[in-house]
Amino acid sequence: MMDEKSIQMEYINRCAALLKENLGRDPRFFIQNEGCQMNSLQTETVAGMTESMGAVRVMTEEEADMVIYNTCTVRENANQKIYGHLGHLKSIKRQNPDLKIVLFGCMMQEQHVVEKIRKDYGFVDLVFGTHNIHKFPELFYRTLTANSQIIDIWQDTDEIVEGLPASRKYKFKTGVNIMFGCNNFCSYCIVPYVRGREKSREPQAILREIEELVEDGVTEVMLLGQNVNSYGKNLAVPVTFAQLLTEIEKIEGLKWIRFMTSHPKDLSDELIDVMRTSKKICHHLHLPMQSGSSSILKKMNRHYDQERYLDLVRKIREAVPDISLTTDIIVGFPGETEEDFLDTLEVVRKSNFDTAFTFIYSRRTGTPAASMEDQIPQEVVKDRFNRLLSLVQEKGRENSARFEGTIQEVLVEEENREKGLMTGRTQYNLLVHFPGNSSLIGRYVKVKLDTCRGFYYFGTLLAQ
Ligand code: 5AD
Ligand code: SF4
Repeated sequence: MMDEKSIQMEYINRCAALLKENLGRDPRFFIQNEGCQMNSLQTETVAGMTESMGAVRVMTEEEADMVIYNTCTVRENANQKIYGHLGHLKSIKRQNPDLKIVLFGCMMQEQHVVEKIRKDYGFVDLVFGTHNIHKFPELFYRTLTANSQIIDIWQDTDEIVEGLPASRKYKFKTGVNIMFGCNNFCSYCIVPYVRGREKSREPQAILREIEELVEDGVTEVMLLGQNVNSYGKNLAVPVTFAQLLTEIEKIEGLKWIRFMTSHPKDLSDELIDVMRTSKKICHHLHLPMQSGSSSILKKMNRHYDQERYLDLVRKIREAVPDISLTTDIIVGFPGETEEDFLDTLEVVRKSNFDTAFTFIYSRRTGTPAASMEDQIPQEVVKDRFNRLLSLVQEKGRENSARFEGTIQEVLVEEENREKGLMTGRTQYNLLVHFPGNSSLIGRYVKVKLDTCRGFYYFGTLLAQ
């Protein structure tokens, strides 16, 4: 029997032949990602499969024969953005009726969204979700041969299909999925409903993929999962995240390892110890706190309180003193009092985050928090959000500036829009702009961080 990957590779060939025959030239595709880094990675996989069909990527919808959106639904404004795009696409399709429009990802796992697309957006050709991304070639082939809207949404899957083609943005760094889904059911969050139950990839598959990536020029990997700290718990032979990191560290030629996201409830002493002794794990930890109030954290179903969070921050700073900490915070969760909010400000003051991503609570249909009483009025939330933002920015500027005057190793990523300036990133995830040329891209160089401009630096390249 053919395996799933071979079946889809076969459909890629069929799509390639059919597209060429229909168009008489190479097809052109436009692809856009919304949302988190995990979505970006899946967008790269769909882009890779489309390129394998012989399609060439273009930068505007107007030039394309295929327009593909990977959607997000973590907050309501992500959904609104997609509906906005669809309005625009409708007029493009009027000019170019052969245009194929494809929507996939988290937002498509919501029943009310699919119903709306079926009813109001009949010009969309193909809709699939988060569990059957590997089926894209087969579904797209059906789209090319049928004349009606195709919708294929799965509720969940146990299957992880390995080795599909991917189109990487950078040659020298990439994300690597180590797990899919989430089992935590934080009460505000829609992710467990649209991404399904937590599934870890086999460590051997992850290691093999990273080895191949390194052979292909990658030196930095970002290990991705909704909650990497619970990696491996449900494998037939359980493995901890710390053990996985220790194995990845041994891969020769790999220089930097990053990971995201860590749930505070599962951050183990074993992991902190691996971070302390590792030569490759970057000294950056994204540790979403969501709220500083113990009673709100309880209602959020986060399984830690203010004290435990602050304790973790202290522990990690003791083990890795130069660590850069970043976080996510939600303002305006149902029932949040002024006192609860002041607790959040206090934890921000004490924790010295380099960056905090702040979000206004967004009511997601189907989550427990959506039906909680005491939803907070918009003007109260806006006022709290602004107060939080100004504190977060003030503290962020202060903390990010702590490297001013030091020499840091920087991975050079790209040419800046301003000519003659290159942009790179330190292990602390801070951006640095410095005079240089594009031959440095993908290299690790020593840069003196001269001045901090809020959340990035201007620097000088040292003789290498
Ligand atoms: N409203 C606002 N922010 C949310 N997040 C997740 N769900 C919601 C919601 N319903 C935020 C959390 C999470 C980040 C990725 O998005 O802070 O860590
Ligand atoms: Fe959502 Fe919580 Fe899972 Fe993160 S850990 S994806 S916030 S449910």
